[in-house]
Amino acid sequence: MKNIIVTGCHGQLGIAINRLLGGDPAYHLINSDVVGDDCTNLDITDVDRVLAMAREAKPYAIVNCAAYTAVDAAESHLDLNYKINAIGPRNLAIAARETGAKLVHISTDYVFPGDSEKPLTEFDPTGPKSVYGITKLAGEHFVEEFADRYFIIRTAWLYGDGKNFVKTMLRLAETHDAVSVVNDQFGSPTSAAELARAIAYLLPSDNYGLFHGTCEGSTEWSSFAKEIFRIAGKTTVVNPVSTEEYTKLVPAQAPRPHYSILDNYMFRLTTDHVYRDWHEALEIYMKESGYSAD
Ligand SMILES: NC(=O)c1ccc[n+]([C@@H]2O[C@H](COP(=O)([O-])OP(=O)(O)OC[C@H]3O[C@@H](n4cnc5c(N)ncnc54)[C@H](OP(=O)(O)O)[C@@H]3O)[C@@H](O)[C@H]2O)c1
Repeated sequence: MKNIIVTGCHGQLGIAINRLLGGDPAYHLINSDVVGDDCTNLDITDVDRVLAMAREAKPYAIVNCAAYTAVDAAESHLDLNYKINAIGPRNLAIAARETGAKLVHISTDYVFPGDSEKPLTEFDPTGPKSVYGITKLAGEHFVEEFADRYFIIRTAWLYGDGKNFVKTMLRLAETHDAVSVVNDQFGSPTSAAELARAIAYLLPSDNYGLFHGTCEGSTEWSSFAKEIFRIAGKTTVVNPVSTEEYTKLVPAQAPRPHYSILDNYMFRLTTDHVYRDWHEALEIYMKESGYSAD
């Protein structure tokens, strides 16, 4: 069996990866609740602990699901963000190189400025505007610099087990007849399970490099909210508002990208893996989570 170290095992993607790979007899997950090991949530900022775990496990792969993901709070925590989103992946890359492991690292649409007018490929220039985006891009660069065999996958609008937009909308529906949701920010809602499926696809291959990985199709937040309520059988009304109007109601600290649609170009060019359409992935997630009216 091949050992795999999963970091950030309590996060949305960490849980999805544990569920998917934990059931695969080819792999033994280290740092996993699912297979009975203690998930110690290995602190990826501690290079000594990272190296010690890797030397002991001699992993086939390290899957980095850990990150600082609170985009607004990040604006006032620059050092901590660099530690978790840049130094952390650097440490994992150093450990991967030393032990001959493959490294899977997850990045974000926030590495782009957010002002594009067409879906963004892996070949488009980056230009992050937020602390979160700046530090995640630094993490990508460290992985490229220190790891020999890596997959960097940029994803967006992720939801799974954890804090996310779907759960926020369902919670608001309990107490509100109507909600105001932004309608001028575009992206592709992506289920953690779909991203985990793509990681499982790439993992055994030697098809290394940078990938965009989101569900197919795109939308804006207010239409996403409407679809959540439709599947949940809620009558909550969605009032679409502009980002400008919304930030008057709820001030945001970090700038939000207006256009975050990622084109899974490298997946299309180099693999036969197809991501599910976001509607289908959302239906599956809501049904499996018990949120669906059906
Ligand atoms: N969520 C999104 O919409 C989104 C969009 C684009 C890209 N991404 C990327 O996708 C990946 C997975 O995101 P997610 O939504 O699954 O994140 P998440 O639910 O916030 O989980 C991140 C996990 O990382 C852990 N963590 C934080 N600092 C750590 C450290 N120093 N060492 C080890 N673990 C640490 C957190 O633990 P604690 O909770 O204990 O701090 C948490 O369990 C991340 O790389 C993220 O940047 C996410």
